[in-house]
Amino acid sequence: MHLRDTPGLTFDDVLLVPRRSSVASRSAVNIAARLTRRLTLAIPIVSANMDTVTEAPMAIAIARLGGLGAIHRFMSAERQAAEVARVKRAESHIVEAPATLPPGASVQTAREQMAASQIGGLLVVDAAGHLLGLVTTRDVLFAPDPLAPVESVMTTRERLVTAPAGIDLESARQQLHAHRVEKLPLLLPDGRVAGLITAQDIIKLARHPHAAKDSKGRLRVAAAVGARADDLVRAELCASTGTDVLVVDIAHGHSEHAIRMVQTLKRSFPHLDVIAGNVASADGVRALAEAGADAVKVGVGPGSICITRQVTGFGVPQLTAILDCAAAARELDVPLVADGGVRNGGDLTKALAAGASTVMLGSLLAGTEESPGASVIRDGRRYKVVRGMASLTANVDRQALDKPGQLDDDDWEKVVPEGVEAVVPYRGRAADVLHQLVGGLRSGLSYAGAACLADLQANAEFLRITPAGIRESGPHDVQTL
Ligand code: XMP
Repeated sequence: MHLRDTPGLTFDDVLLVPRRSSVASRSAVNIAARLTRRLTLAIPIVSANMDTVTEAPMAIAIARLGGLGAIHRFMSAERQAAEVARVKRAESHIVEAPATLPPGASVQTAREQMAASQIGGLLVVDAAGHLLGLVTTRDVLFAPDPLAPVESVMTTRERLVTAPAGIDLESARQQLHAHRVEKLPLLLPDGRVAGLITAQDIIKLARHPHAAKDSKGRLRVAAAVGARADDLVRAELCASTGTDVLVVDIAHGHSEHAIRMVQTLKRSFPHLDVIAGNVASADGVRALAEAGADAVKVGVGPGSICITRQVTGFGVPQLTAILDCAAAARELDVPLVADGGVRNGGDLTKALAAGASTVMLGSLLAGTEESPGASVIRDGRRYKVVRGMASLTANVDRQALDKPGQLDDDDWEKVVPEGVEAVVPYRGRAADVLHQLVGGLRSGLSYAGAACLADLQANAEFLRITPAGIRESGPHDVQTL
C-alpha cells in the first residue's frame, strides 16, 4: 500500500494567474492543436464517443468548425461504418463514388434513393459505368408515372456538361459558372464515371475555412472501437468507409487487452491514427504510447455522467491526471486528449494549460441540436437525454445488440452500472456552444500572454484556491437573471 499525500486537484481547485500580455485581440491567437502524432485541428475540441453525443450530424458540425467527432460504437459495426460514410460524404472537392442508377430503374426508386442518401441528383450509368445521363429531384418531383424508367426523365449525356477526371478545383468552378450548372460529372477518357463535383460542395468549402479536412477535401472523423476480437471487424468496416482515426475506447485503458488492441490496430491499419484510453497516470500513457498509440485519452471518472469513482473507488481528479500524464506525454511526444469533466471555457483552458493537446466533450454537447439524444420537456423547458456508456440502460442496450430478443430480467439485475442516465438543458446548435467555449479559450490565451497553445502551457502558473476562492469565482451576492 502506498499513500500519496499531495492532494488530487480538479479544475475548480485552481485558477490560472494572469500574466503580462502583448496579445492585442482574441482573434490574434492561434488555437490550432495536435490531435495525434500526425494530425492537427484548428480548434482543440473532440466530441465524445457516446451514443447521446456523436453520430454523423455532430461529427459533421464539429469537423466544419475545425474539431473532430468520434462516432460511438454502441450500434452495429455496419451502421457505425455508415455513419462514418455520411460524414465523409458531407463535403469534399470531389464525390469519388457518386450514387448511380441503371437507366431502367424506376422514377420511384430514384426518389427513394435520393431521399435516403439526402442528395439531389443521381448519375445514370450503364453496366460498365459509362455515363448515360443525370436525374435530379426536379426531374422526378412531378413525374406522373412512378414506374417509368429514369431514362425517360433524365437529362441525357449529350446535354450534360462534364469534365475530365483530375480537373482542378478552380477550373471546375469556372465550368460550373460558365454553363450555369450545379453538377459536373468527371469522366475517364472512355466515358466511365470517375467522380462528381457539385456547386454545393464548393460553396461549403468557402463557408468553413477552418474545417478539419483530409487530402481529398472530405471532413475528418474518428470511430470508436472496443478491444474484443469482433472489434477488428468493426475497425475494418469503419476504415473501409474512410475513418481517419480509430479510438480504442476502454474504461480502463491501462490494461493488457487495450494495449494488445492498439498494437493490432497499428499493425493492421498503419495509415490510420489510433487514439487510445482512458488512463489517469504517466505509466498508463507510456504503456499505450509504446504500444503505438498516436494520442492518449486521459480521464478516469471525471465525466458528468460517471460514477466509476463511487462504484470502484478508483480515479484521479482530472487536473492532476492531466498534469501527471503530461510529463510522460512530453517525453514520448504523444498528444493527450483530456476526456471528461469540462463544463465551460475555463475548464477547457485549464485542461490545455495543464498539458492536454485537445479536450473531449460529452454532456456539454449532448444538449445540442446535433446530438442523437432524445428530447424531453420538463416544466415547459426542453432538455436532451445524456447517458453514461456504462449506465444501466446503455449496458442492457449493448447486450441486446449482441443477443437480440434474448434478454431477460436477470440480464438487467446482473449489470453493475458505472454511469448514470440524465438530462441536460437544450443548448441550441453545437456551433453556438463551441463558439462560447472557443471564445473563452481565446480570451484565456490573452490573459496568459500566449499567442498559441504551446505558449499557454509554457506560461501557465496554476494557483490552488480555497472554497472561498471557488465561491468568489462564480456570480455571488446577486440574484442572477
Ligand atoms: P463529460 O463530463 O464531458 O464526460 O460529459 C464525457 C466522458 O465521460 C466518460 N464516460 C463515462 N465514464 N462511466 C464513466 O465512468 C460512464 O458510464 C461513462 N460514459 C462516458 C467518457 O470518457 C466520456 O468521453
